[in-house]
Amino acid sequence: MTILSDTYGRRFQKLRVSLTNQCNFNCIYCVGKEPVAGPLVQSARSGGSDSSSIGLKEYQNIITKIHQATPLKQIRFTGGEPLISPYLIGLINYCKSLGIENVGLTTNGWYLENKMKALLESGIDSINISFDGISDEYIQRMAGHSQAYKVKQTIKLAVSAGLPVKLNAVVMKGKNEAEVLPLLEFARKLNIPLRYIEYMSMGDLHHSKNRYLFTQDEILETIGTRYNFKRLERESGSTAKYWELSNGGVFGIIANYSAPFCSDCNRLRLDSRGKIYGCLSSNKGIEVKQLIDNDDKFKNALKEALGQKQTLHFTGSTLSMKYIGG
Ligand code: 5AD
Ligand code: SF4
Repeated sequence: MTILSDTYGRRFQKLRVSLTNQCNFNCIYCVGKEPVAGPLVQSARSGGSDSSSIGLKEYQNIITKIHQATPLKQIRFTGGEPLISPYLIGLINYCKSLGIENVGLTTNGWYLENKMKALLESGIDSINISFDGISDEYIQRMAGHSQAYKVKQTIKLAVSAGLPVKLNAVVMKGKNEAEVLPLLEFARKLNIPLRYIEYMSMGDLHHSKNRYLFTQDEILETIGTRYNFKRLERESGSTAKYWELSNGGVFGIIANYSAPFCSDCNRLRLDSRGKIYGCLSSNKGIEVKQLIDNDDKFKNALKEALGQKQTLHFTGSTLSMKYIGG
């Protein structure tokens, strides 16, 4: 098969796979409401079950098919919360067996401790842990639980176990901008990279950009009150830009609004229902689970997804991240 690309020369090289749209957290930017203290354990006991999720075989078939049509360099499992899916470890191993260079995971960290051994053995290349504040007060505001301690402990354990951990912090105006510096200090002490993410108005908060956006410049200004830093060169296709602190340590910013990276975006998303999305701004998934046995139709679906990519600006989907896959 010839490799698909659009008129801007963009092609898919990175795939995000949502393993479930269920999650035991209630992050405000994802669920679209002020978080309430969530039933963290109960919801996971119910298996995080999502009866209309596709099965292991379907994930394997779709991933294989995409990889044949448009060779992937990177695959990242997300959700919802991917650690509540029974397929995670098997799929990491499967992707490694396909020869995909970089296999990663984005998680809220809550269930990481039990899976550390299996993840280490799987040879996972990167684990991004969402962590939007280091104190209970801010974790409560952002994620709807008040056990910052447990997540911090897990992050520390994962780092000492030798897992390749990075932190992701969404920054929202009026919510957690006061945690910009404490988060950086936490990450520096552990010597792990931290990436700030500009809030993206999606889902029920689709119209709330002005209310919550804390921009890249504001993040830099806040860091500048304590540190000197210099900009590092951006890798093509990378969503984050990085800065180096003059006294050591690196931080990144993913600035979907202030510095959109649409022009060289190479990501494709697969949700837990078997639909693909070419862009986080698209409101409609393209069904592929039915198309496994039809090369032409499958390829057309990928073409359609390429056509969803924006050329300039991120506009934000009316679907929230937990449906599209973070
Ligand atoms: N804006 C910015 N980041 C978001 N994430 C989820 N929803 C949003 C949003 N609206 C991030 C989470 C996590 C990853 C899955 O996506 O913080 O790191
Ligand atoms: Fe769960 Fe991630 Fe959404 Fe937070 S952002 S509610 S951790 S899926």
